[in-house]
Amino acid sequence: MALEILILAAGQGKRMRSDLPKVLHPLAGRPMLAHVLDTARALSPRKMIVVHGHGAEQVKKAFPEKDVEWALQAEQLGTAHAVMQAMPLVSADAEVLLLYGDMPMVRVESLRRLLQAAPQGLAVLTAEIPNHPSFGRVVRNPAGVQRIVEVRDASVAERALAEVNMGFYALSAKRLAGWLKKIGNANAQKEYYLTDLVALAVAERTPVVGVTVEDPVEAGGVNSKRDLAQLERQYQDMVARRLLDAGVTLADPARIDVRGALECGRDVAIDVNCVFEGKVTLGDGVRVSANCVLRNITIAAGSQILPFCHLEDSSVGERCRIGPYARLRPGTALDEDVHVGNFVEVKASRLRASAKANHLTYIGDSDVGARTNVGAGTITCNYDGVNKHRTVIEDDCFIGSDATLVAPLRIARGSYIGAGSTINKDTPAGQLTVARAKQVSLPGWKPPKKKA
Ligand code: UD1
Ligand code: CA
Repeated sequence: MALEILILAAGQGKRMRSDLPKVLHPLAGRPMLAHVLDTARALSPRKMIVVHGHGAEQVKKAFPEKDVEWALQAEQLGTAHAVMQAMPLVSADAEVLLLYGDMPMVRVESLRRLLQAAPQGLAVLTAEIPNHPSFGRVVRNPAGVQRIVEVRDASVAERALAEVNMGFYALSAKRLAGWLKKIGNANAQKEYYLTDLVALAVAERTPVVGVTVEDPVEAGGVNSKRDLAQLERQYQDMVARRLLDAGVTLADPARIDVRGALECGRDVAIDVNCVFEGKVTLGDGVRVSANCVLRNITIAAGSQILPFCHLEDSSVGERCRIGPYARLRPGTALDEDVHVGNFVEVKASRLRASAKANHLTYIGDSDVGARTNVGAGTITCNYDGVNKHRTVIEDDCFIGSDATLVAPLRIARGSYIGAGSTINKDTPAGQLTVARAKQVSLPGWKPPKKKA
Protein backbone atom coordinates (compact mmCIF):
# COMPACT_ATOMS: atom_id res chain seq x y z
CA MET A 1 0.00 0.00 0.00
CA ALA A 2 1.30 3.46 -0.85
CA LEU A 3 1.88 5.81 2.03
CA GLU A 4 0.16 9.20 2.24
CA ILE A 5 1.01 11.50 5.14
CA LEU A 6 -1.35 14.10 6.60
CA ILE A 7 0.09 16.86 8.75
CA LEU A 8 -2.33 18.88 10.87
CA ALA A 9 -1.19 22.48 11.07
CA ALA A 10 -4.32 24.63 11.14
CA GLY A 11 -4.27 25.60 14.80
CA GLN A 12 -3.72 29.20 15.81
CA GLY A 13 -1.43 28.71 18.75
CA LYS A 14 -3.06 31.42 20.84
CA ARG A 15 -0.69 30.85 23.72
CA MET A 16 2.32 31.72 21.53
CA ARG A 17 1.08 35.34 21.76
CA SER A 18 2.46 36.04 18.30
CA ASP A 19 1.27 37.15 14.87
CA LEU A 20 3.36 34.41 13.28
CA PRO A 21 1.35 31.20 12.67
CA LYS A 22 2.49 28.60 15.20
CA VAL A 23 4.05 26.10 12.79
CA LEU A 24 6.26 28.84 11.32
CA HIS A 25 8.03 29.52 14.60
CA PRO A 26 11.62 28.38 14.21
CA LEU A 27 13.16 25.40 15.93
CA ALA A 28 16.92 25.26 15.35
CA GLY A 29 16.59 28.06 12.82
CA ARG A 30 13.86 26.45 10.67
CA PRO A 31 10.07 26.50 10.93
CA MET A 32 8.70 23.69 13.08
CA LEU A 33 6.72 22.44 10.11
CA ALA A 34 9.94 22.11 8.06
CA HIS A 35 11.21 19.56 10.58
CA VAL A 36 7.97 17.58 10.41
CA LEU A 37 8.07 17.65 6.59
CA ASP A 38 11.69 16.40 6.63
CA THR A 39 10.74 13.54 8.93
CA ALA A 40 7.78 12.73 6.68
CA ARG A 41 9.96 12.83 3.56
CA ALA A 42 12.34 10.29 5.07
CA LEU A 43 9.48 7.77 4.84
CA SER A 44 9.24 8.32 1.04
CA PRO A 45 5.47 8.91 0.98
CA ARG A 46 3.49 9.08 -2.25
CA LYS A 47 1.87 12.27 -0.93
CA MET A 48 2.25 14.78 1.85
CA ILE A 49 -0.84 16.82 2.64
CA VAL A 50 -0.73 19.72 5.09
CA VAL A 51 -4.00 20.89 6.65
CA HIS A 52 -3.64 24.63 7.11
CA GLY A 53 -6.03 27.23 8.46
CA HIS A 54 -4.64 29.96 10.67
CA GLY A 55 -2.38 32.24 8.62
CA ALA A 56 -3.11 29.94 5.68
CA GLU A 57 -1.47 32.05 2.98
CA GLN A 58 1.60 32.78 5.07
CA VAL A 59 2.10 29.12 5.91
CA LYS A 60 1.63 28.04 2.32
CA LYS A 61 4.07 30.66 1.05
CA ALA A 62 6.76 29.45 3.44
CA PHE A 63 6.73 26.03 1.75
CA PRO A 64 6.83 26.37 -2.02
CA GLU A 65 8.09 22.77 -2.30
CA LYS A 66 6.33 20.84 -5.03
CA ASP A 67 5.91 17.68 -2.97
CA VAL A 68 3.50 19.33 -0.52
CA GLU A 69 -0.28 19.47 -1.09
CA TRP A 70 -2.55 21.75 0.88
CA ALA A 71 -6.00 21.29 2.36
CA LEU A 72 -7.72 24.29 3.91
CA GLN A 73 -9.53 24.04 7.22
CA ALA A 74 -11.22 27.44 7.31
CA GLU A 75 -12.63 26.92 10.81
CA GLN A 76 -10.80 24.86 13.42
CA LEU A 77 -13.44 22.46 14.66
CA GLY A 78 -11.12 19.79 16.02
CA THR A 79 -8.46 17.31 14.96
CA ALA A 80 -10.90 14.91 13.25
CA HIS A 81 -12.52 17.81 11.41
CA ALA A 82 -9.06 18.80 10.17
CA VAL A 83 -8.52 15.32 8.75
CA MET A 84 -11.98 15.40 7.10
CA GLN A 85 -10.89 18.49 5.11
CA ALA A 86 -7.96 16.55 3.64
CA MET A 87 -9.85 13.39 2.73
CA PRO A 88 -10.70 14.52 -0.85
CA LEU A 89 -6.92 14.50 -1.53
CA VAL A 90 -6.34 11.06 0.01
CA SER A 91 -6.35 8.07 -2.35
CA ALA A 92 -8.78 5.27 -1.50
CA ASP A 93 -6.03 2.63 -1.55
CA ALA A 94 -3.55 4.57 0.61
CA GLU A 95 -2.06 3.80 3.96
CA VAL A 96 -2.38 7.01 5.99
CA LEU A 97 -0.06 8.44 8.63
CA LEU A 98 -1.38 11.37 10.70
CA LEU A 99 1.16 13.83 12.16
CA TYR A 100 1.03 17.24 13.86
CA GLY A 101 2.88 20.31 12.62
CA ASP A 102 3.62 21.44 16.17
CA MET A 103 5.30 18.20 17.28
CA PRO A 104 8.62 18.30 15.44
CA MET A 105 10.70 15.99 17.63
CA VAL A 106 9.32 12.62 16.56
CA ARG A 107 11.91 10.33 14.98
CA VAL A 108 11.61 8.58 11.63
CA GLU A 109 12.42 5.27 13.33
CA SER A 110 9.38 5.58 15.62
CA LEU A 111 7.10 6.34 12.68
CA ARG A 112 8.47 3.30 10.84
CA ARG A 113 7.49 1.12 13.79
CA LEU A 114 4.06 2.77 13.88
CA LEU A 115 3.55 2.01 10.18
CA GLN A 116 4.58 -1.60 10.68
CA ALA A 117 1.80 -1.99 13.23
CA ALA A 118 -0.88 -0.40 11.02
CA PRO A 119 -1.93 -3.38 8.87
CA GLN A 120 -3.36 -5.02 12.01
CA GLY A 121 -5.91 -2.24 12.38
CA LEU A 122 -5.22 1.11 14.02
CA ALA A 123 -1.73 2.00 15.24
CA VAL A 124 -1.36 4.72 17.87
CA LEU A 125 1.92 6.36 18.85
CA THR A 126 2.40 6.67 22.60
CA ALA A 127 5.05 7.84 25.07
CA GLU A 128 5.91 6.97 28.67
CA ILE A 129 5.65 10.27 30.53
CA PRO A 130 4.43 10.07 34.14
CA ASN A 131 2.09 12.88 35.30
CA HIS A 132 1.79 14.54 31.89
CA PRO A 133 -0.29 17.71 32.41
CA SER A 134 -2.39 17.52 29.24
CA PHE A 135 -1.95 14.44 27.06
CA GLY A 136 -4.66 11.79 26.93
CA ARG A 137 -3.96 8.60 28.91
CA VAL A 138 -3.71 5.25 27.12
CA VAL A 139 -5.80 2.56 28.78
CA ARG A 140 -4.76 -0.95 27.79
CA ASN A 141 -6.03 -4.47 28.30
CA PRO A 142 -4.19 -7.65 27.27
CA ALA A 143 -5.60 -7.39 23.72
CA GLY A 144 -4.16 -3.92 23.13
CA VAL A 145 -5.20 -0.33 23.57
CA GLN A 146 -8.72 -0.11 24.91
CA ARG A 147 -9.32 3.61 24.98
CA ILE A 148 -7.80 7.08 25.28
CA VAL A 149 -9.03 9.20 28.19
CA GLU A 150 -8.48 12.94 28.08
CA VAL A 151 -7.02 14.20 31.36
CA ARG A 152 -10.12 16.19 32.30
CA ASP A 153 -12.27 13.06 31.98
CA ALA A 154 -9.83 10.67 33.66
CA SER A 155 -10.36 8.97 37.02
CA VAL A 156 -7.60 9.17 39.63
CA ALA A 157 -6.39 5.70 38.63
CA GLU A 158 -6.40 6.60 34.91
CA ARG A 159 -4.56 9.85 35.53
CA ALA A 160 -1.81 7.82 37.20
CA LEU A 161 -1.15 5.97 33.93
CA ALA A 162 2.23 6.96 32.50
CA GLU A 163 1.49 5.99 28.90
CA VAL A 164 0.13 8.98 26.99
CA ASN A 165 -1.32 9.52 23.52
CA MET A 166 0.94 11.49 21.15
CA GLY A 167 -1.96 11.90 18.74
CA PHE A 168 -0.18 10.30 15.76
CA TYR A 169 -2.00 7.44 14.02
CA ALA A 170 -1.42 5.02 11.14
CA LEU A 171 -4.25 3.17 9.39
CA SER A 172 -5.68 2.42 5.97
CA ALA A 173 -7.51 5.22 4.14
CA LYS A 174 -10.46 2.87 3.89
CA ARG A 175 -10.80 2.44 7.66
CA LEU A 176 -10.10 6.15 8.24
CA ALA A 177 -12.84 7.27 5.83
CA GLY A 178 -15.34 4.88 7.42
CA TRP A 179 -14.61 5.98 10.99
CA LEU A 180 -14.51 9.71 10.20
CA LYS A 181 -18.14 9.45 9.08
CA LYS A 182 -19.03 8.28 12.57
CA ILE A 183 -17.15 10.94 14.54
CA GLY A 184 -19.47 13.61 15.92
CA ASN A 185 -19.01 16.72 18.02
CA ALA A 186 -21.34 15.90 20.91
CA ASN A 187 -18.89 16.94 23.63
CA ALA A 188 -18.24 19.88 25.91
CA GLN A 189 -15.98 21.66 23.34
CA LYS A 190 -18.28 20.87 20.37
CA GLU A 191 -15.19 19.60 18.52
CA TYR A 192 -14.55 16.58 16.31
CA TYR A 193 -11.89 14.53 18.09
CA LEU A 194 -9.47 12.16 16.37
CA THR A 195 -9.12 10.20 19.57
CA ASP A 196 -12.62 8.82 18.80
CA LEU A 197 -10.85 6.61 16.22
CA VAL A 198 -9.72 4.41 19.08
CA ALA A 199 -13.19 3.96 20.54
CA LEU A 200 -14.63 3.22 17.08
CA ALA A 201 -11.95 0.63 16.35
CA VAL A 202 -12.50 -1.07 19.70
CA ALA A 203 -16.26 -1.09 19.16
CA GLU A 204 -15.71 -2.90 15.85
CA ARG A 205 -13.18 -5.28 17.45
CA THR A 206 -10.45 -3.94 15.16
CA PRO A 207 -7.13 -4.27 17.00
CA VAL A 208 -5.59 -1.03 18.28
CA VAL A 209 -1.83 -1.33 18.62
CA GLY A 210 0.01 1.11 20.85
CA VAL A 211 3.57 1.76 19.68
CA THR A 212 5.72 3.53 22.29
CA VAL A 213 8.52 5.90 21.33
CA GLU A 214 11.94 5.11 22.77
CA ASP A 215 12.63 8.62 24.00
CA PRO A 216 9.89 10.73 25.63
CA VAL A 217 11.56 13.80 24.11
CA GLU A 218 9.89 12.76 20.85
CA ALA A 219 6.52 13.65 22.33
CA GLY A 220 7.50 17.28 22.81
CA GLY A 221 4.95 19.68 21.38
CA VAL A 222 4.70 23.44 21.20
CA ASN A 223 1.82 25.44 22.63
CA SER A 224 3.78 28.31 24.17
CA LYS A 225 7.11 30.08 23.94
CA ARG A 226 8.14 28.12 27.03
CA ASP A 227 7.50 24.86 25.21
CA LEU A 228 9.41 26.14 22.19
CA ALA A 229 12.42 27.18 24.28
CA GLN A 230 12.44 23.78 25.99
CA LEU A 231 12.27 21.91 22.67
CA GLU A 232 15.09 24.06 21.32
CA ARG A 233 17.35 22.97 24.18
CA GLN A 234 16.33 19.32 23.73
CA TYR A 235 16.96 19.56 20.00
CA GLN A 236 20.38 21.15 20.56
CA ASP A 237 21.20 18.51 23.14
CA MET A 238 20.42 15.82 20.57
CA VAL A 239 22.66 17.52 17.97
CA ALA A 240 25.49 17.90 20.52
CA ARG A 241 25.29 14.21 21.41
CA ARG A 242 25.41 13.30 17.75
CA LEU A 243 28.53 15.46 17.26
CA LEU A 244 30.23 13.94 20.31
CA ASP A 245 29.42 10.44 19.06
CA ALA A 246 31.01 11.38 15.73
CA GLY A 247 34.24 12.33 17.54
CA VAL A 248 33.90 16.11 17.69
CA THR A 249 35.29 17.75 20.83
CA LEU A 250 32.80 20.15 22.41
CA ALA A 251 34.05 22.26 25.31
CA ASP A 252 30.49 22.24 26.66
CA PRO A 253 27.71 20.34 24.87
CA ALA A 254 25.19 22.68 26.51
CA ARG A 255 26.75 25.72 24.87
CA ILE A 256 26.57 25.07 21.14
CA ASP A 257 23.73 25.95 18.76
CA VAL A 258 23.37 24.31 15.38
CA ARG A 259 20.69 25.88 13.21
CA GLY A 260 21.14 23.92 10.04
CA ALA A 261 23.56 21.20 8.98
CA LEU A 262 27.01 21.06 10.58
CA GLU A 263 29.43 18.55 9.08
CA CYS A 264 32.72 17.87 10.82
CA GLY A 265 35.87 15.96 9.87
CA ARG A 266 38.15 14.18 12.34
CA ASP A 267 39.51 15.90 15.43
CA VAL A 268 37.44 19.02 15.15
CA ALA A 269 37.21 21.05 18.37
CA ILE A 270 34.56 23.62 19.16
CA ASP A 271 34.76 25.93 22.16
CA VAL A 272 31.77 27.42 23.98
CA ASN A 273 29.01 29.69 22.65
CA CYS A 274 29.42 29.05 18.95
CA VAL A 275 26.44 29.28 16.59
CA PHE A 276 26.35 27.39 13.29
CA GLU A 277 23.73 28.41 10.74
CA GLY A 278 22.84 26.98 7.35
CA LYS A 279 25.33 24.55 5.86
CA VAL A 280 28.68 24.58 7.64
CA THR A 281 31.52 22.17 6.88
CA LEU A 282 34.59 21.93 9.13
CA GLY A 283 37.54 19.93 7.80
CA ASP A 284 39.89 17.66 9.76
CA GLY A 285 41.54 19.30 12.74
CA VAL A 286 39.63 22.58 12.49
CA ARG A 287 39.39 24.47 15.76
CA VAL A 288 36.66 27.01 16.41
CA SER A 289 37.28 29.14 19.49
CA ALA A 290 34.68 30.67 21.77
CA ASN A 291 31.89 33.00 20.65
CA CYS A 292 31.97 32.55 16.90
CA VAL A 293 29.03 32.70 14.47
CA LEU A 294 29.51 30.65 11.29
CA ARG A 295 26.91 30.66 8.55
CA ASN A 296 27.03 28.81 5.21
CA ILE A 297 30.76 28.32 5.21
CA THR A 298 33.35 25.68 4.42
CA ILE A 299 36.54 25.61 6.45
CA ALA A 300 39.29 23.32 5.21
CA ALA A 301 41.56 21.10 7.28
CA GLY A 302 43.87 22.54 9.91
CA SER A 303 42.38 26.02 10.01
CA GLN A 304 41.87 27.87 13.27
CA ILE A 305 39.10 30.30 14.01
CA LEU A 306 40.04 32.43 17.02
CA PRO A 307 37.40 33.91 19.37
CA PHE A 308 34.61 36.33 18.37
CA CYS A 309 34.52 35.83 14.61
CA HIS A 310 31.51 36.31 12.34
CA LEU A 311 31.92 34.35 9.11
CA GLU A 312 29.26 33.90 6.43
CA ASP A 313 28.82 32.64 2.85
CA SER A 314 32.55 32.14 2.41
CA SER A 315 35.18 29.47 2.03
CA VAL A 316 38.38 29.14 4.02
CA GLY A 317 41.32 27.06 2.75
CA GLU A 318 43.67 24.81 4.68
CA ARG A 319 45.73 26.00 7.64
CA CYS A 320 44.27 29.51 7.75
CA ARG A 321 44.18 31.59 10.91
CA ILE A 322 41.14 33.80 11.31
CA GLY A 323 40.48 36.27 14.11
CA PRO A 324 40.09 37.05 16.88
CA TYR A 325 37.35 39.54 15.96
CA ALA A 326 37.38 38.94 12.20
CA ARG A 327 34.47 39.27 9.81
CA LEU A 328 34.13 37.40 6.53
CA ARG A 329 31.18 38.61 4.49
CA PRO A 330 29.51 36.87 1.54
CA GLY A 331 31.68 35.94 -1.40
CA THR A 332 34.99 35.67 0.43
CA ALA A 333 37.38 32.91 -0.62
CA LEU A 334 40.61 32.34 1.25
CA ASP A 335 43.26 30.00 -0.17
CA GLU A 336 45.60 28.06 2.11
CA ASP A 337 47.74 29.56 4.91
CA VAL A 338 45.96 32.91 4.85
CA HIS A 339 45.85 35.06 8.00
CA VAL A 340 42.94 37.40 8.65
CA GLY A 341 43.43 39.10 11.98
CA ASN A 342 41.57 41.27 14.45
CA PHE A 343 39.10 43.86 13.20
CA VAL A 344 39.59 42.85 9.60
CA GLU A 345 36.53 42.77 7.33
CA VAL A 346 36.66 40.94 4.00
CA LYS A 347 33.84 41.02 1.43
CA ALA A 348 33.52 39.47 -2.05
CA SER A 349 37.27 39.01 -2.23
CA ARG A 350 39.84 36.33 -2.78
CA LEU A 351 43.01 36.14 -0.73
CA ARG A 352 45.55 33.81 -2.32
CA ALA A 353 47.92 31.47 -0.52
CA SER A 354 49.81 32.91 2.46
CA ALA A 355 48.34 36.40 2.05
CA LYS A 356 48.05 38.25 5.35
CA ALA A 357 45.87 41.04 6.66
CA ASN A 358 46.48 40.98 10.35
CA HIS A 359 44.93 44.14 11.76
CA LEU A 360 42.18 46.74 11.27
CA THR A 361 41.55 46.47 7.54
CA TYR A 362 38.72 46.51 5.00
CA ILE A 363 39.18 44.38 1.89
CA GLY A 364 36.16 44.55 -0.44
CA ASP A 365 35.72 43.45 -4.07
CA SER A 366 39.41 42.61 -4.22
CA ASP A 367 41.84 39.98 -5.35
CA VAL A 368 44.88 39.80 -3.10
CA GLY A 369 47.91 37.91 -4.42
CA ALA A 370 49.90 35.13 -2.83
CA ARG A 371 52.26 36.11 0.00
CA THR A 372 51.05 39.71 -0.10
CA ASN A 373 51.05 41.50 3.24
CA VAL A 374 48.33 44.06 3.85
CA GLY A 375 49.36 46.45 6.62
CA ALA A 376 47.23 47.65 9.52
CA GLY A 377 44.55 50.18 8.69
CA THR A 378 44.54 49.53 4.94
CA ILE A 379 41.25 50.28 3.20
CA THR A 380 40.18 49.28 -0.28
CA CYS A 381 37.88 52.12 -1.35
CA ASN A 382 35.59 50.01 -3.49
CA TYR A 383 32.55 52.30 -3.58
CA ASP A 384 32.32 55.65 -5.35
CA GLY A 385 28.89 56.38 -3.94
CA VAL A 386 27.13 54.81 -6.92
CA ASN A 387 29.09 51.82 -8.18
CA LYS A 388 31.46 49.23 -6.73
CA HIS A 389 34.89 48.74 -8.31
CA ARG A 390 37.53 46.05 -8.02
CA THR A 391 41.00 46.21 -6.58
CA VAL A 392 43.65 43.77 -7.73
CA ILE A 393 46.79 43.38 -5.66
CA GLU A 394 49.15 40.93 -7.31
CA ASP A 395 51.52 38.43 -5.66
CA ASP A 396 54.31 39.38 -3.23
CA CYS A 397 53.19 42.94 -2.56
CA PHE A 398 53.71 44.87 0.65
CA ILE A 399 51.01 47.39 1.46
CA GLY A 400 52.20 49.82 4.15
CA SER A 401 49.94 50.68 7.07
CA ASP A 402 47.03 53.05 6.62
CA ALA A 403 47.07 52.93 2.81
CA THR A 404 43.88 53.89 0.98
CA LEU A 405 43.54 52.02 -2.29
CA VAL A 406 40.99 53.74 -4.51
CA ALA A 407 39.37 51.28 -6.93
CA PRO A 408 39.42 50.47 -9.78
CA LEU A 409 43.08 49.77 -9.18
CA ARG A 410 45.84 47.28 -9.96
CA ILE A 411 48.89 46.99 -7.71
CA ALA A 412 51.40 45.07 -9.80
CA ARG A 413 53.48 42.12 -8.57
CA GLY A 414 56.09 42.94 -5.95
CA SER A 415 54.88 46.52 -5.40
CA TYR A 416 55.66 48.27 -2.14
CA ILE A 417 53.20 50.95 -1.05
CA GLY A 418 54.44 53.50 1.45
CA ALA A 419 52.52 53.78 4.70
CA GLY A 420 49.78 56.40 4.70
CA SER A 421 49.55 56.58 0.89
CA THR A 422 46.39 57.24 -1.04
CA ILE A 423 46.77 55.25 -4.26
CA ASN A 424 44.39 55.87 -7.16
CA LYS A 425 46.60 54.96 -10.13
CA ASP A 426 47.93 51.51 -11.05
CA THR A 427 51.45 50.88 -9.72
CA PRO A 428 54.42 49.39 -11.60
CA ALA A 429 55.80 45.99 -10.56
CA GLY A 430 58.63 45.77 -8.09
CA GLN A 431 58.78 49.48 -7.19
CA LEU A 432 58.04 51.50 -4.07
CA THR A 433 55.15 53.87 -4.61
CA VAL A 434 54.53 56.61 -2.05
CA ALA A 435 51.72 59.13 -2.26
CA ARG A 436 51.79 61.42 0.74
CA ALA A 437 53.03 64.90 1.62
CA LYS A 438 56.79 65.03 2.24
CA GLN A 439 57.79 65.32 5.86
CA VAL A 440 59.32 68.67 6.84
CA SER A 441 60.85 69.96 10.08
CA LEU A 442 61.27 73.73 10.74
CA PRO A 443 64.63 74.40 12.44
CA GLY A 444 63.84 78.01 13.64
CA TRP A 445 60.44 77.10 15.03
CA LYS A 446 59.60 78.14 18.63
CA PRO A 447 56.66 76.85 20.65
CA PRO A 448 53.96 79.49 21.41
CA LYS A 449 54.15 81.20 24.80
CA LYS A 450 51.23 81.96 27.12
CA LYS A 451 50.18 85.66 27.05
CA ALA A 452 51.04 87.60 30.24
C1 UD1 B 1 -4.65 15.97 21.16
C2 UD1 B 1 -5.28 14.66 21.62
C3 UD1 B 1 -4.64 14.17 22.92
C4 UD1 B 1 -3.15 14.04 22.70
C5 UD1 B 1 -2.56 15.35 22.20
C6 UD1 B 1 -1.14 15.16 21.85
C7 UD1 B 1 -7.56 14.87 20.82
C8 UD1 B 1 -8.95 15.09 21.22
N1 UD1 B 1 -6.69 14.87 21.83
O1 UD1 B 1 -4.95 16.98 22.13
O2 UD1 B 1 -5.17 12.92 23.31
O3 UD1 B 1 -2.55 13.67 23.92
O4 UD1 B 1 -3.23 15.80 21.01
O5 UD1 B 1 -0.63 16.30 21.19
O6 UD1 B 1 -7.24 14.69 19.64
N2 UD1 B 1 -5.48 21.06 14.73
C9 UD1 B 1 -5.98 21.43 13.50
N3 UD1 B 1 -7.29 21.76 13.40
C10 UD1 B 1 -8.13 21.74 14.47
C11 UD1 B 1 -7.61 21.37 15.73
C12 UD1 B 1 -6.27 21.03 15.82
O7 UD1 B 1 -5.25 21.46 12.50
O8 UD1 B 1 -9.30 22.03 14.29
C13 UD1 B 1 -4.04 20.71 14.83
C14 UD1 B 1 -3.30 21.69 15.71
O9 UD1 B 1 -2.75 22.74 14.92
C15 UD1 B 1 -2.22 20.81 16.30
C16 UD1 B 1 -2.85 19.41 16.36
O10 UD1 B 1 -3.93 19.45 15.44
O11 UD1 B 1 -1.10 20.73 15.47
C17 UD1 B 1 -3.29 18.98 17.75
O12 UD1 B 1 -4.34 19.82 18.18
P1 UD1 B 1 -4.52 20.24 19.70
O13 UD1 B 1 -5.70 21.12 19.80
O14 UD1 B 1 -3.23 20.80 20.19
O15 UD1 B 1 -4.82 18.85 20.40
P2 UD1 B 1 -4.80 18.58 21.94
O16 UD1 B 1 -6.00 19.18 22.56
O17 UD1 B 1 -3.49 19.00 22.44
CA1 CA C 1 -1.50 20.44 21.48
